[in-house]
Amino acid sequence: MLKQCLSSATRLASRHISREQILNKLEHVLGSRNVISDPVDTAPFNVDWKGMHRTRSAGEENRNEQSIVVTPRGTEETVALMRLCHQYRIPVCSQGGNTGLVGGSVPMTSNELIVSFSKMNQIVWVDEESSVVSVQSGCILQHLDNTINSVGLCVPLDLAAKGLCQIGGNVATNAGGVRLFKYGSLRENVLGMEVVTADGSLLDLGKSVRKDNTGLSLKQLFIGSEGTLGLIMNVNILCPVKPTSRSVLLLELSSFANVVKALRLSRTSLGGHLSAFELIDKDALTVVVEHFGYKVPLDMKEQFYVLVEVSGNGDEIGATDRFMGDVLRGRLAVNGVAGSDESQCEHIWAIRENITQSLASTGANYKFDISLPLPKYYKLAEHIRSKWKDRVKHIVAYGHVADGNIHLNIVDHQMNPVNQREISSDIYKFAIQNNGSISAEHGIGREKVDYMSQIHSPPVLELMKSVKQTLDPLMLLNRGKVLNLL
Ligand code: FAD
Ligand code: MLT
Ligand code: ZN
Repeated sequence: MLKQCLSSATRLASRHISREQILNKLEHVLGSRNVISDPVDTAPFNVDWKGMHRTRSAGEENRNEQSIVVTPRGTEETVALMRLCHQYRIPVCSQGGNTGLVGGSVPMTSNELIVSFSKMNQIVWVDEESSVVSVQSGCILQHLDNTINSVGLCVPLDLAAKGLCQIGGNVATNAGGVRLFKYGSLRENVLGMEVVTADGSLLDLGKSVRKDNTGLSLKQLFIGSEGTLGLIMNVNILCPVKPTSRSVLLLELSSFANVVKALRLSRTSLGGHLSAFELIDKDALTVVVEHFGYKVPLDMKEQFYVLVEVSGNGDEIGATDRFMGDVLRGRLAVNGVAGSDESQCEHIWAIRENITQSLASTGANYKFDISLPLPKYYKLAEHIRSKWKDRVKHIVAYGHVADGNIHLNIVDHQMNPVNQREISSDIYKFAIQNNGSISAEHGIGREKVDYMSQIHSPPVLELMKSVKQTLDPLMLLNRGKVLNLL
């Protein structure tokens, strides 16, 4: 039945093998239940979370042709799969939870195979004494966190897509999220991993100890490589002890200068108890509140709102009360509320976490993920508003202000590629001129490939290309992403 959907004339990358023959070989290696080619079933894998990037058909006759999806069940099957792909030069696009925001998880064309890790979802072991877990790449972040919470640990990464994204995708994007300033990035917390390379070699970079000075740290090449250098299998992660209590505050402030002062105060007075400090501007708050009908227990007259989370083992409560008092008495915030129980804390978090969804549902959403030094942080939003505010529907800003990461989002009345290009170029110019980054945490994917030459100097780009050529000389992995070498 699956094969009836195929046009025998359409061919994959190799000139010597038809799509039908490839299907047969894939089924031989993985079993037919792990090879999906029915277009109804492959459709969700062939479009990204934003609905902006789709696989383009490479079929000469079938204009709707999509990529075949395979679901290996473990490392050995992935090794066998990549040997096959290498032998027949079949290009591959790795896909985790498909929540990436730069189009990296969806193939450019249907001659690429989608390797989905959803069946590699086991937690392999938990070492409670050392606070280290070993997990397969397809494990959903939320599932890992819930599981290790029961032994008093937590994953040092938290983001709104946690119910869908996978650990392998998190590592491949070096995802940041809302707790990075407290626990550090995945670059600091991934102790080791296994990787399958483009020719089907298995690299064991799988140490589970914190200290390991034995030559080059090759795992770092794969963290943040967005599926262009290898397929991430098992990952060993250092996981902190989970705090047993928390308070969540929502502050209303009249200027960005006061946001920065409140951040400084929170660092000095809350120290290690500070576990999130997230900015939401009034424009972002208005969109999410109107979209979901949330109630906000504040006047919403001022331009700036900050979510502060303080966590500990009950020992943080006094410091939290003192911080709130100091912020209000010192007039850094004009108003503030504290979640009085866990459900109110959840409610405040839901407002922050659902901004992304509300923007995507409100119009054509151009997303930007910029790092800037704090003195320039909100100047970016002001600069873009001064030029664009009358031409688009919304310009909103929110983000991980404690890390200098601003998510500036534009919602246009309808998709307008000319506006999108001009706005992108304005924003990226501002970021580059002010010593910022055009991708703080989401990556390059396919969306920002053209800007790589503006960010990195020719020798740096050449070095990146030579790493890619060494690991993937046939250019099989994630074509057209990060470095466009085709
Ligand atoms: P995918 O989207 O499936 O893939 C992402 C990239 O990784 C692709 O290039 C893919 O080829 C590659 N890849 C996936 N799995 C593997 C593997 N096993 N081996 C090799 N390569 C692989 N990101 C942040 O950094 N911080 C946030 O706060 C944040 N919040 C978000 C909130 C929402 C609502 C949404 C929708 C997204 C958010 N993101 C955020 C972006 C996204 O969730 C992260 O980039 C996440 O890490 C992607 O994981 P995934 O499993 O969905 O990967
Ligand atoms: C966030 O912090 O909410 C995410 O990075 C997603 C986004 O930028 O919208
Ligand atoms: Zn973010």
